Amino acid sequence: MAGTSPAMTHDEDLTMATHKLLLLPGDGIGTEVMAEVTRLIDWLNAEGIAHFTTEHGLVGGAAYDADKVAITDATMALAEASDAVIFGAVGGPKWDAVPYDARPEAGLLRLRKDLGLFANLRPAVCYPALADSSSLKREVVEGLDIMIVRELTGGVYFGEPKTITDLGNGQKRAIDTQVYDTYEIERIARVAFDLARKRRNKVTSMEKRNVMKSGVLWNEVVTQVHAREFPDVQLEHQLADSGGMNLVKWPKQFDVIVTDNLFGDMLSDIAAMLTGSLGMLPSASLGELNAKTGKRKAMYEPVHGSAPDIAGKGAANPLAMLASFGMALRYSLDLGGLADQLDAAIAAVLAKGLRTADIKSEGTTAVSTSEMGEAVVKEMQALQV
Ligand code: IPM
Ligand code: MG
Repeated sequence: MAGTSPAMTHDEDLTMATHKLLLLPGDGIGTEVMAEVTRLIDWLNAEGIAHFTTEHGLVGGAAYDADKVAITDATMALAEASDAVIFGAVGGPKWDAVPYDARPEAGLLRLRKDLGLFANLRPAVCYPALADSSSLKREVVEGLDIMIVRELTGGVYFGEPKTITDLGNGQKRAIDTQVYDTYEIERIARVAFDLARKRRNKVTSMEKRNVMKSGVLWNEVVTQVHAREFPDVQLEHQLADSGGMNLVKWPKQFDVIVTDNLFGDMLSDIAAMLTGSLGMLPSASLGELNAKTGKRKAMYEPVHGSAPDIAGKGAANPLAMLASFGMALRYSLDLGGLADQLDAAIAAVLAKGLRTADIKSEGTTAVSTSEMGEAVVKEMQALQV
């Protein structure tokens, strides 16, 4: 009977959702930047601000060294069972000679493909404090806020055939296949239009319809999805090469850019440099929403790679990794308020002049990877009331 049951003490820990994370640091600076995410998670748990459980796994060269594969089935099972995968970076010259199927990048590609993470969100935001770190003029990048939506499970990355054949006459022939089906273009277009509605309501679709059949279909399908479902959003089409030029010429013309897997890979590296450094760009890779559970598979990773040249020196910038964790809070864990705080904390450490080597400029304070991570946690602390 109500009121007579044993004490229902209101215990925050009982009511607070537990979030299951799989941490995959990978190789090179991946382990160093992931250590800063762990620091933040430990602090959030200790303060009772949120409750995370973490599993750890190997991916990339680290997995190859241990198990001769780029990721094991056991680690894939942990990924399937997690609320979000937090991924560092993979690769390095050490594994240049390993079999193609076991190369470090194969681990990343398997995660994307097997978890069905077709939508890769790569926001490029230029923090005011960093406008002078960009190789472009301040007025071109200051206040920049664009979102690249990259298709992530199709196109030339996965198309078959994908072969090198010996032609027997001293020649070889290499084939990669660019392939897109209607449904793949429709679902990535929807993600882009949905995002645009919450932003400045404009989508630019990029392809090469002047030379590629897949570009013709891409253009046609995006145009149809727009007319049918999103007529209120402004849509424009650019050829991917001139789109790349426009990104460095006047990037503020863009809001959301939607493009295929390969063009998205290249255009997002360009966009990263607009923000000052590749060390600043986070990303989210999302699967289809499961109507039953209301959840989707997701992985969060910085756009930068494993940077073997600076690995182990405490020189890596952990901000892209921390901001990727922030995207996990926002897109997977329903902790948007906390994500806002983390973004604010990152902006605050930059405004105070703290800089890792990649974003160092005149008159700022050089810090190591862990000093940067500590400073972010300290700002988070200051934001708690
Ligand atoms: C990226 C990377 C990967 C890609 C590599 C590491 C396979 O460049 O996430 O942008 O090409 O997608
Ligand atoms: Mg890339």
